[in-house]
Amino acid sequence: MTPLAFSMLRILSDGQFHSGEDIAKGLDVSRASLCNAAKAIEAAGIELDRIRGRGYRMNRPFEWMEREACMEKLGNKGFDIEIRDVVDSTNSELLRTNAPHRKVLAAELQTCGRGRMGRKWEAELGGSLTFSIAWQFDRGAGFLSGLGLATSLALKRAMQACGIEIFIKWPNDLLHQFRKLGGILIEVKGDMLGPTFVVIGIGVNFSLSEKARESIDQAVTCIDAISACKPGRNRLFVAILSELHDILEQFEREGFSPFREEWSECHVYQGKPVRLRLPSGKMEEGRVIGVNERGEILLETGKGQLSFASGEVSLRGMA
Ligand code: ATP
Ligand code: BTN
Repeated sequence: MTPLAFSMLRILSDGQFHSGEDIAKGLDVSRASLCNAAKAIEAAGIELDRIRGRGYRMNRPFEWMEREACMEKLGNKGFDIEIRDVVDSTNSELLRTNAPHRKVLAAELQTCGRGRMGRKWEAELGGSLTFSIAWQFDRGAGFLSGLGLATSLALKRAMQACGIEIFIKWPNDLLHQFRKLGGILIEVKGDMLGPTFVVIGIGVNFSLSEKARESIDQAVTCIDAISACKPGRNRLFVAILSELHDILEQFEREGFSPFREEWSECHVYQGKPVRLRLPSGKMEEGRVIGVNERGEILLETGKGQLSFASGEVSLRGMA
């Protein structure tokens, strides 16, 4: 998607027809360039209606991210929000630029989104909330092991405030009826003693095309499919930042301990039998007891109670 394609899309966002001539004149480009921009928009998965004599119309207009409105709603939480049209990965960009404490970067379109363990995170223009937060902790990386879980709790609280019930799957997935709605990717730079520069990346699906669903190798869902009131991306973005701000400040002082109980209540496999795939490829089975103050999962196994750090571990439920 070129800058011209974004400019054209913004004009079409009112859902009305606009003639090619008017758009080209307004943007000071040729009709041929406009035609290419329309093709780029369609290639990005956005449907356009084209009617001879009337022009172009966006079939299903979406809500753009709005920096000023979000900053105003957040009040004095100290975040500096930037919204860009296209970024490869909001996590990569904040890491590359050593972004300052409390910088938030959201992207309308993320082209190379990343999940844990080098996996891919799919996102579509207008259909996803993709953003990252830079946060600096005075403490070392060891102190941060429960940060992903604390972040998932902020997401759970924010969704609840917007009327959406979700569960968390250890360590970093947001689920609705066992379908993945969102995920968290925490990346850390710094030494063991601190300070530590952390990037917290969050992806939430708002609407998913058939094509996107097919390209994801697990059951997925989106806000539009599970919520009657369908909060917009800006509303959920503000709600998440607001909850996350409070949780990060408390986490900085007290670590993960104060969140343990609430987190376990939101865990989709609490008390249930699960199977863990360890980095060695070995499987471990047991019943989930909860999580400890470091965010490690506690399992009751045939060998007694064992704890596992999230690292490269994947958890799956058992029938
Ligand atoms: P685990 O953390 O237990 O290994 P996981 O399989 O969900 O769980 P993650 O690394 O957390 O793995 O997330 C990346 C995975 O998420 C991808 O491999 C893909 O299956 C899935 N995925 C990618 N994009 C999306 C999306 N937009 N919505 C939901 N799921 C997605
Ligand atoms: C996962 O489930 O493995 C984590 C997915 C995290 C996706 C978000 S989208 C914004 C940020 N930028 C990325 O490249 N990844 C995270």
